[in-house]
Amino acid sequence: MSAKQSQDIQITHLVLQHIVSAILTMQSSTTSIKLSRFSLDNFAVNLCKILGISGLVLYLAYLFFFSQSSCPSSQFFTPFQHIRPVSPPSQQLNNLTHTNHSSPTNLNHLVFGIVGSVNAWRHRKAYTESWWRPNATRGYLFLDTHPTDDLLPWPPSSPPLRVSNDISKIVEESKHVAPIMVRMVHAILEVFREGDEGVRWYVMGDDDSLFFVDNWVDVLEKYDHTKYVYIGGHSEFFMSNIWFSFDQGFGGAGFALSYPLVAAMVKDLEGCLRRYPYLNSADLITQYCVDELGVPLSAERGIHQIDLHGDISGFLSSHPQSPMLSLHHFDQIEPIFPTMNRSQSVNHLMKAAKTDQSRMLQQTICYQKQTNWSFSISWGYSAHIYEKVLPRSVLKRPLETFLPWLDLKHRPYYMFNTRWPPFVDSCEAPHVFFFESIDSSIDSFEGHNQIVLTYVRSKPRGLPTCSLSGSRSADSISKVRVFSLATKLPKENGGNDDVENGRLVMEEDGGNDDVEDGRLVMEEDGGNNDVRDGRSMMEDYGVEASR
Ligand SMILES: *[C@@H]1O[C@H](CO)[C@@H](O)[C@H](O)[C@H]1NC(C)=O
Ligand SMILES: *[C@@H]1O[C@H](CO)[C@@H](O)[C@H](O)[C@H]1NC(C)=O
Ligand SMILES: *[C@@H]1O[C@H](CO)[C@@H](O)[C@H](O)[C@H]1NC(C)=O
Ligand SMILES: *[C@@H]1O[C@H](CO)[C@@H](O)[C@H](O)[C@H]1NC(C)=O
Ligand SMILES: *[C@@H]1O[C@H](CO)[C@@H](O)[C@H](O)[C@H]1NC(C)=O
Repeated sequence: MSAKQSQDIQITHLVLQHIVSAILTMQSSTTSIKLSRFSLDNFAVNLCKILGISGLVLYLAYLFFFSQSSCPSSQFFTPFQHIRPVSPPSQQLNNLTHTNHSSPTNLNHLVFGIVGSVNAWRHRKAYTESWWRPNATRGYLFLDTHPTDDLLPWPPSSPPLRVSNDISKIVEESKHVAPIMVRMVHAILEVFREGDEGVRWYVMGDDDSLFFVDNWVDVLEKYDHTKYVYIGGHSEFFMSNIWFSFDQGFGGAGFALSYPLVAAMVKDLEGCLRRYPYLNSADLITQYCVDELGVPLSAERGIHQIDLHGDISGFLSSHPQSPMLSLHHFDQIEPIFPTMNRSQSVNHLMKAAKTDQSRMLQQTICYQKQTNWSFSISWGYSAHIYEKVLPRSVLKRPLETFLPWLDLKHRPYYMFNTRWPPFVDSCEAPHVFFFESIDSSIDSFEGHNQIVLTYVRSKPRGLPTCSLSGSRSADSISKVRVFSLATKLPKENGGNDDVENGRLVMEEDGGNDDVEDGRLVMEEDGGNNDVRDGRSMMEDYGVEASR
């Protein structure tokens, strides 16, 4: 597929215009004033109730949001597989890996196989090194040839280097149409042959992707590593799934194979490569080889192929409440922070991720009744203020700031609904703030440590105030602060813990820290607008009705 090809084939980068301009014109606000406070009683408790009770409903809704075909994790085996004469995976694993299967999965149980090319590595190194943890993450980088002198000595900050096996014999004999793709799939065999001990999962991916490794651990923990399991993500671009497959994990974004599955695959992976010489996508070949063992794809919504172009901020700002696992195609999109270049953007995003991956990008929505404002926070990335109460069902839809992977004449382009075009109606257009800094050194609050994220306005919205909502303009807001607990989200989180725990609440800033329950802070130019009793308006907008 095109995603994979980009790794080795130089693709002309499309310079696409930001729909939301990238100029940071942050207002020089220093005056922090009390804007409003949601009390725990009114807000958090309400939300606790609402979200707690309707958690199942929300969860089901989320299932339909991105991933229309996520497989129940219990359906790993088809009837076909049950009759296969293979030794039980668990016994294999005992012998091969000497692990205690019932111990919780940790980072050491994962081995990454990253496939790249020497030419691209020069600039893609920054992407991989932003998430790679020397001596903690296990795995290898497979390059097409020996690195040139300028890349040596190989630094410890990069994954251990391997040069891909010569697969020319397989290619020649099978007359394979896509040698590069053969090399990429063959890496599964090569990473297995490294013989790492205690492996539960092999995670394969590209060198222009970010992996959120703590979240991979948490998500993989939900699956049974002693069975045959294949976990991946769909393309965002509808036609990519048609052209390739809805049943493949788009591999640039990463897919995970359980140890027993890889052990079974490698018995005849080269045979499998020879059987499908006409397939021109590594991901599709992988799916064919996995399918031969009767194993379906388990789709995860946090795996992001990013078959998109341009400014993907709208996409990243409406991330489902599912752990962020990966972001791919950094060379194909504009820098995700408008004032930074690509490598800076990646490292900036990882600043938040280093503190807490579990919340990364997950969207939190709340409302301020006095102003009829809606807030949409994408943790560690962006904050949006709308001068109107918009239902969650609307705010969950990404703003279509981005462009499709290919400029086809006709929609549908995407695997999800979007808001489009979002920027002309001042009641529908957000004030946009981007992640600036994270502070985890704040004193504890009610016995809980907390972290504070600050988001700064990226530019003036340039629209009149929304006429519907009592004319309360948000033009003067220059910063938004969001307080969260310094604890990870529960692993099985289907709802929104920030809200469940009453942590996303508006609050004054005012130097004197009578921090009670207020968690969402805005700084404003001048004025002194002490609004109290911001109450959740969710009841008025449908969530209550779903109880
Ligand atoms: C595999 O493990 C089982 C149980 O731990 C043991 O009885 C058997 O001898 C092992 N087989 C090999 C080949 O090591
Ligand atoms: C395996 O790990 C679990 C959980 O850590 C522990 O309770 C159990 O005793 C361990 N079993 C063995 C055989 O070590
Ligand atoms: C990784 O481990 C090696 C050998 O134990 C050590 O020399 C090196 O300093 C470690 N690197 C980091 C970044 O911890
Ligand atoms: C990105 O910006 C940083 C800091 O200004 C700079 O060091 C780096 O070379 C830039 N990278 C590219 C690819 O322009
Ligand atoms: C908020 O919206 C409601 C419903 O449209 C309206 O009745 C109320 O007056 C608005 N409040 C403000 C402060 O504009």
